[in-house]
Amino acid sequence: MHWSSGSSSKTLKGDALCVIIAETELEGGKQAGEWTGKINLLAQAGLFAGKLNQTYVLPAEGQPGPAAVILAGSGSALLGAEELRVIAAQAARAALRLKAARLIIRIPDSLSLLTAIGAEAAGQALAEGLVLGAYRRTHYKREQPVYTGLESAVFHLERNAVEAESKEWTQGIVRGKAFAEATNLARNLTNLPGNLLTPSELAVAAIEVAERHGFPAEVLDELEIEQKGMGGLLAVGKGSAHPPRMIVIRYQGTARWENVTAIVGKGITFDTGGISLKRAPGMEEMISDMGGAAAVLGVMEALGILRPQINVVMLIPSAENMPAANAFKPGDIVTSLSGRTIEILNTDAEGRVVLADALTYAREWGAERIIDVATLTGAVLSILGDIATGAVTNDEGMMEAFRAASIRSGERIWQLPAYPEFRELLRSEVADLRNTAGRYGGAATAGLFIGEFADGLPWIHLDIAGTAFLPKERGVNPKGATGVMVRTLLEYLLHLSPGEEAGAADEVEG
Ligand code: BES
Ligand code: ZN
Ligand code: MN
Repeated sequence: MHWSSGSSSKTLKGDALCVIIAETELEGGKQAGEWTGKINLLAQAGLFAGKLNQTYVLPAEGQPGPAAVILAGSGSALLGAEELRVIAAQAARAALRLKAARLIIRIPDSLSLLTAIGAEAAGQALAEGLVLGAYRRTHYKREQPVYTGLESAVFHLERNAVEAESKEWTQGIVRGKAFAEATNLARNLTNLPGNLLTPSELAVAAIEVAERHGFPAEVLDELEIEQKGMGGLLAVGKGSAHPPRMIVIRYQGTARWENVTAIVGKGITFDTGGISLKRAPGMEEMISDMGGAAAVLGVMEALGILRPQINVVMLIPSAENMPAANAFKPGDIVTSLSGRTIEILNTDAEGRVVLADALTYAREWGAERIIDVATLTGAVLSILGDIATGAVTNDEGMMEAFRAASIRSGERIWQLPAYPEFRELLRSEVADLRNTAGRYGGAATAGLFIGEFADGLPWIHLDIAGTAFLPKERGVNPKGATGVMVRTLLEYLLHLSPGEEAGAADEVEG
């Protein structure tokens, strides 16, 4: 994807042209150049009002160039990054419906007046929205469609961009494209059915990412997991014919391996609940129980493209949670890599058990701070629905930086309290910890269980059980896997690099 400016968009080749129109422009009865008359008729008929999320397609009769014109509403408010993402995502979706391969998006001169975020952030947001909106889930029907999706998109600036602005735009678009393609990689992995994505297959996918970018990687098989003493991951993986894996990838962006951030993703390729079996309705959604793993792998993909001056180690504890003759059971006591023992009360609380070992292992890889991402609890859905990701932390300063990142990305997070009383609920009579803490406060207690294994390192836990997989399309996200947290993690990590100032004073939540 690239962008251009200046020359008439009529000379650009495309199957569809998108024109962005604000509500206020229609109210005034002006604007939109050659389509003004038609658009005003549509407005009078109540068919297109320029509202955000609204699109309308006009055939470009008899005109040279694109066959269809997509009108995309931008609403009436001052445009922030999220609005720009949504406009571009809707343009991409309209193009998909038209089976267009090449899309031109005309960026009106007035748009720069309507946004307060600057050329780089605007370019990034538009590119993100476009690539996120153009996502199509793979299907496995016998008949494969002829149309293969959007191939190219051009942002066409109406006015001649000045030199400095042009550089910012380009940088923004490169970054936005990388962020969104990484998110789409995470979505693809998360949408894969459990029979096609076992722990060893997830390891293959991870090695592919590592090899593409020349990153050192390590995959521990079930024997090595046992030898190493990762009793939690071993216990959860025991009941499956597809044995567990511990996957590690390293990205080194500075001369020395220092100031290392660990990103850890829950990689349960399917969660039946194990012996504490889940009920049948909706169980198919548990193909997304490796959404955290997919997110951290997506992050590595983008780091490979953008190469920031930071150091990141990615860890994925992966297993399939099955009920079986040799599965772990309620009442079992397992010894984690940290030496802490865990009393299993419910085999469906398996995520925290595999993450425990991964957090301990992260320290062995030199981690100085840890972020874990996990489809961890149904309880987080009771609190935040599928609107926001739940966060738990032991370090308010780190959380503040992460919150700022989430405001830039537009991916909502909401912090849950880490009260010591919650931690006490995790006490066991016979082991160091128990893996469930009773009925109430389940999202916080689950997070705090994992936090024990950070062993004092600054740590943030992200519970994406509600946000990783949506029942219907919303904003930039499709139905199904969202790849949530890829972009927020990247925003956070890239701000750790020396080239980026950490200042976030001018950011406001939308
Ligand atoms: N993977 C589930 C959590 C989940 C629920 C993800 C809904 C996505 C949508 C997790 O392993 C789980 O089963 N958690 C249990 C914990 C309980 C047994 C303490 C839950 O939330 O019910
Ligand atoms: Zn699970
Ligand atoms: Mn479970």
